[in-house]
This record gives sequence, structure tokens and C-alpha cells, in this order.
Amino acid sequence: MMRLAGKVALITGGTKGVGAATARLMAKEGARVVVTARSEGPGREMEAELCRSGADALFVPHDVSDQASWQNVINAVEKRFGALDILVNNAGVYVSKPFEETTLSDLDLILNINLRGVFLGMQLALPLMKKTADEGQAGAIINVSSTAAMAAPLHDSIYSASKGAVQLLTRSIAKEFARGGYNIRVNTVNPGIIETDMTERAMEKMVATGVFENREAAVKALLEPYPMGRFAMPEEVASMILFLASDESRYLTGGAFLVDGGETA
Ligand SMILES: NC(=O)c1ccc[n+]([C@@H]2O[C@H](COP(=O)([O-])OP(=O)(O)OC[C@H]3O[C@@H](n4cnc5c(N)ncnc54)[C@H](O)[C@@H]3O)[C@@H](O)[C@H]2O)c1
Repeated sequence: MMRLAGKVALITGGTKGVGAATARLMAKEGARVVVTARSEGPGREMEAELCRSGADALFVPHDVSDQASWQNVINAVEKRFGALDILVNNAGVYVSKPFEETTLSDLDLILNINLRGVFLGMQLALPLMKKTADEGQAGAIINVSSTAAMAAPLHDSIYSASKGAVQLLTRSIAKEFARGGYNIRVNTVNPGIIETDMTERAMEKMVATGVFENREAAVKALLEPYPMGRFAMPEEVASMILFLASDESRYLTGGAFLVDGGETA
């Protein structure tokens, strides 16, 4: 039996990195998958790839920081599938700067996508998720936080703040949604450093701004806190998201689940 047979899953920022790995894995486990992202081209490619693999998949263009855009996504999910079991709030952005150089527009960018995007997602998906859960299926929300929510890395002040806020938002909402009338579990996944474009872009910037001499030096420094000595692969984070979305984790809510190769140990 496939682990998400018949479930409808919505994954934000699902065209690359952790989001794409999650979409592929969930489709493989029998979910009907809705992938969202800002760019239409990569979105259509992901939709086509998932359909070619035999999945029932849909791409909807989306800016997670925009309320109307969220409503449009939820309307599209309802129209196509009539239900929503799983919401993965994965889309996120990263800014790393000394605090003195951090601007208000950096703060607005980070909070609008990493926090407001998660808030809007949970609020606007809720009516359809409640309706689906009413029909006997338990719902699951997985918000992608970070180990930066737990121990703030140097120069990650506003990113850490956004991911910490997502974690506390999750914990509080988990208590509300565990009670009667909801039947929805809410958890965070807290990865350490992952081999994705986000990490690659961050390293490029660190080299360009002289923080590190070259990419090799950046990799060495970034891996220093990781006893396993390597970045996580997006699929390794997706495995945890899948577990939290599946009925195997039916007694888990309000938790923060580390995928960090021992970083915080
Ligand atoms: N890369 C890491 O080392 C790392 C570590 C811990 C947590 N995370 C978190 O994991 C999640 C996924 O990160 P990733 O490394 O796969 O990043 P990525 O940059 O490779 O992919 C992020 C995705 O989010 C999308 N996105 C960004 N802003 C958006 C918006 N406003 N609306 C819709 N989509 C938007 C991007 O287009 C992209 O598809 C993020 O929440 C990130 O903060 C990443």
C-alpha cells in the first residue's frame, strides 16, 4: 500500500530543492500533487514530469506572500480535486548579513515570504482542509523551518527570527487544530544545511563579498558544525516531510523534527 494513497497534497515552492523532492516523493507514494511556485516555466515542467511518472498533478502559479494568490491556489485545488489533506509550506528565502547592514526591506522580504506566507497558507487552506478532515481523513500541515530556529547562526538574524516564528506559530496552531472540529496535525521540519540552489546562492554571495576566499573555503566553514561532514540531500528532508504527512505519524503534532546530520546534537 502506498503511504499517501488517494491523498491530495499541496507543496509551495515545489519546482526545485526540497519542494521538488517532496513533490516527487509524495507522487511516488500515491498522492495527487499540487505544486506551486512563482515561475510558470519550471512549474509547467514539474507538472509534466509528475504526470509522466503516472501521478495526477497540477501546477498553479503562486506568490506565497500574496493573499489573493493563495486564494487562487486553493480555488484551483478545490476545483480540480475537491479536497486537501496535506499542506507543505516549503517556499522560503534566505538573507545572511551582519545586523548593522540588514535593511528594513531585507526584513520585509524575509517576513513576507517565510512568515506571512505560512500564516496565509494555513488560514486560506483551512476551510478546505477542515472539510476534507470532516469527511474522515486526518489532515497534516508541515511547515519547513530550520535549525536556525533553534540555535541562531552568525549573520542569520532575520532568517533565524522568521524560522523561529514559524516554529512557535506551528506549536500554537497545533494545539488548536488537535481539538474537535479540525483533526489536522501541524509540525515543523527543521533541516540543517541542504544541497540546494538556496545554499549555492548563499555561498556565491559569501565568496563575492569576501567572507570566504572561494567556494571550497565556504563549504569547509559551513560544514564545520556538521559531524556527518556533508550537506543534506533534498530527498532526505523530503523523507521526513513524507513521514509527517502520512498516517504513520498520526500521534505527532506540534513537534519540530530535525534533519540536521547531528548539527544540534
Ligand atoms: N537550503 C538550506 O540549507 C535550508 C536549510 C534549512 C531550511 N531551509 C528551508 O527549506 C525550504 C526550501 O529551501 P530550498 O533550499 O529548497 O530553497 P530553494 O531556493 O532551492 O527553493 C525555494 C523555492 O521556494 C520558491 N519561492 C521563494 N519565494 C517564493 C514566493 N514568494 N512564492 C512562491 N514560491 C516562492 C522558490 O521559487 C523555490 O522554488 C525553505 O523554506 C528554506 O528556508 C533550507
